[in-house]
Amino acid sequence: MAKVAFLGLGVMGYPMAGHLKVRGGHDVTVYNRTAAKAERWAAEFGGRAAATPAEAAKGQEFVFACVGNDDDLRSVTVGTDGAFETIASGAIFIDNTTASAEVARELYAAAGAKGAHFIDAPVSGGQAGAENGVLTVMCGGDAEAFDKAKPVIEAYARMVGLMGPAGAGQLTKMINQICIAGLVQGLAEGIHFGKKAGLDIENVIDVISKGAAGSWQMENRHKTMNAGKYDFGFAVDWMRKDLDIVLAEARRNGAKLPVTALVDQFYAEVQALGGSRWDTSSLLARLEK
Ligand SMILES: NC(=O)c1ccc[n+]([C@@H]2O[C@H](COP(=O)([O-])OP(=O)(O)OC[C@H]3O[C@@H](n4cnc5c(N)ncnc54)[C@H](OP(=O)(O)O)[C@@H]3O)[C@@H](O)[C@H]2O)c1
Repeated sequence: MAKVAFLGLGVMGYPMAGHLKVRGGHDVTVYNRTAAKAERWAAEFGGRAAATPAEAAKGQEFVFACVGNDDDLRSVTVGTDGAFETIASGAIFIDNTTASAEVARELYAAAGAKGAHFIDAPVSGGQAGAENGVLTVMCGGDAEAFDKAKPVIEAYARMVGLMGPAGAGQLTKMINQICIAGLVQGLAEGIHFGKKAGLDIENVIDVISKGAAGSWQMENRHKTMNAGKYDFGFAVDWMRKDLDIVLAEARRNGAKLPVTALVDQFYAEVQALGGSRWDTSSLLARLEK
């Protein structure tokens, strides 16, 4: 049993912190900007709610975070009343936010100045993956800190990998999002074409999902896409935030991402249709408008 804090009880963080308490059996203190959510979590799981990140992080061996973007992450770490004000020497900060590789390197150095460790550890698997504790976690940081953190992270994960030094977890998550962007557009075009051709989409997917075209998106999203339902899942706003990070990194490293850049613009059109909170499979709605 370890002493653990968790900062950010959103769609992802709330169940992840719950798994650390229930499945991991750890002593968990939570912090959430909207305090009522932290109180609700503490009542549900029997942990402690702290008023600030600094208070939550004090005396902990592991401090987790899952907030929105780079600035949110800076705010709960190096901001006023941030976790780095109190983080113990030797403690390990594990960041599950999808953020830039740049902020990961910056916070790795800031944690190091306090004698603490920082691991960027973005996740894949969505809300269902968080609720079922089967996320994929892509880590960047030092091997020694990773080896200590891995068994704790495993409370909410099915796969935990060290991808390289600080920032490598975020770079891997960028690859994950690049692969998803083009794939979802392809799936949307396939279903759109199938409908125009007058075919039974369920029947088509039933057959082709067993062949080379099969994918997680096809298995898990074709039914809702076919029904035009998008009010759930991984929000278009979040995907645009992620693609913004990806395209900025590509401008730095010179990678050519023509399809990713195009799909990012398609998502802007989905936002204009009112789909900011729709699932990313809503690329089909744009083709059908
Ligand atoms: N949802 C998914 O399917 C999914 C999948 C993979 C990765 N992710 C990534 O995981 C992260 C969290 O996603 P989510 O879906 O859990 O988001 P969410 O439901 O919007 O939750 C965001 C959390 O961050 C907190 N927060 C935001 N800005 C803050 C700030 N400046 N200071 C303190 N706390 C702040 C929020 O507090 P309040 O409660 O006060 O608003 C909330 O607890 C994002 O980086 C997202 O890209 C999400």
